Amino acid sequence: MATRVALRFMRECSLYRKVKSNHISRHCFSNAASATTPPIPKKVPQFAKKGRLFTGVAIGLLIGGGAYASTVDEATFCGWLFSATKLVNPFFAFLDPEVAHRLAVAAAARGWVPVEKRSDPPILELNVWGRRFSNPIGLSAGFDKNAEAVEGLLGLGFGFVEVGSVTPIPQEGNPKPRIFRLRNEGAIINRCGFNSEGIVAVAKRLGVQHGKRKLETSSSSSATEDEAVHGGKAGPGILGVNLGKNKTSEDAAADYVQGVHTLSQYADYLVINISSPNTPGLRQLQGRKQLKDLVKKVQAARDEMQWGEEGPPPLLVKIAPDLSKQDLEDIAAVALALRVDGLIISNTTIQRPDPVSKSPVAEETGGLSGKPLFNLSTNILKDMYILTKGRIPLIGCGGVSSGEDAYKKIRAGATLVQLYTAFAYGGPALIPKLKAELAECLERDGYKSIYEAVGADCR
Ligand SMILES: Cc1cc2nc3c(=O)[nH]c(=O)nc-3n(C[C@H](O)[C@H](O)[C@H](O)COP(=O)(O)O)c2cc1C
Repeated sequence: MATRVALRFMRECSLYRKVKSNHISRHCFSNAASATTPPIPKKVPQFAKKGRLFTGVAIGLLIGGGAYASTVDEATFCGWLFSATKLVNPFFAFLDPEVAHRLAVAAAARGWVPVEKRSDPPILELNVWGRRFSNPIGLSAGFDKNAEAVEGLLGLGFGFVEVGSVTPIPQEGNPKPRIFRLRNEGAIINRCGFNSEGIVAVAKRLGVQHGKRKLETSSSSSATEDEAVHGGKAGPGILGVNLGKNKTSEDAAADYVQGVHTLSQYADYLVINISSPNTPGLRQLQGRKQLKDLVKKVQAARDEMQWGEEGPPPLLVKIAPDLSKQDLEDIAAVALALRVDGLIISNTTIQRPDPVSKSPVAEETGGLSGKPLFNLSTNILKDMYILTKGRIPLIGCGGVSSGEDAYKKIRAGATLVQLYTAFAYGGPALIPKLKAELAECLERDGYKSIYEAVGADCR
């Protein structure tokens, strides 16, 4: 198609030149007839010549590029699109962090992001909670707090996307500015404080998307076959819903129960988030007795609801990286006793490890995420894998920015991996790169699947 356009363009150009030269010669002839001296050709200014040359080269490149692009296969073209997104990163870096974030969510919500057409390396495929993940790399909570862009984000090639944290009643969160970049350290400090449109707005949005996704599922092949393939009852891609509590609420359990009642029907898994450092008192819910009471109530609320054959969504707890050995033992004991389906390790830290401590931004109140969180969260992950004896699927989160990092999380005990900060800096191009690197790491060390590598460093 592009070749045809190019040929046509060239033909039209040569025709134009012919007509022009005819016109000039006719013009010269009439001049010659009317005057005795031959006309002096007009001198073309140097810059105009250069301008024409430049335009010609640009058009040539455009046409040549278009013609070449039309000959490459879909996978190569898809790779180009993902790489091209790197061009907009400097523009985002220039904007205020929260404005940049809003823009990114809006773009993903409108489908102005590339769609991953290439299939994931088979070695990355796995089954957790009876759900099939085409790869173990997920987007963690906080990016799409209000479930505005689930389709666009899943389309980028994440194995799963977690929306939220969603609070029962809409709330503004903390005053702005509340997100701070530490670019050189590959980190962010945030004190968002659960800014959320609330469970009703999110349920409405997920209801529309859920209906659409269901429709797509049933129209392509048979619904049962598709559900087995994609694992998620919400259609292609796995969707997690992360629940938070309102700042003013005095009954945390009631808040999480409300979240379960309103949102669990749309979720492939649910998360009780008791580890955000920006909601006063929240982290105290990680104490042994508090956690036990809370999990029991939330599990009961979920189990009382009517569920189809696939059963209720698994219930996970997201914990902080700032926990003592005793805290970790308590959480592990509760998780094992109450058969919690999974733990996410971890949320952001209130610590300021080197080199962040040297930055003036380090003084901002809030949770630190990104590269400086990697060691802290990976150590806690390892401890928790040992304490839970590998019986509970763990999601490793904190400072992942490469396939090697994701691999380290898996070796430390994670079955699935999540990231946020590295995606905020690296954009869509990071995801295929990270998946390819992870597959390489597994193959390099002779693993045939992710399961074989889970907890390898704890044995
Ligand atoms: C701006 C921002 C907002 C976040 N909001 C939430 C949230 O609402 N709920 C939650 O559980 N985690 C939230 N997180 C934490 C992330 O989900 C993740 O646990 C943490 O950032 C560590 O991962 P990372 O180092 O890959 O960013 C947020 C993180 C950032 C940077």
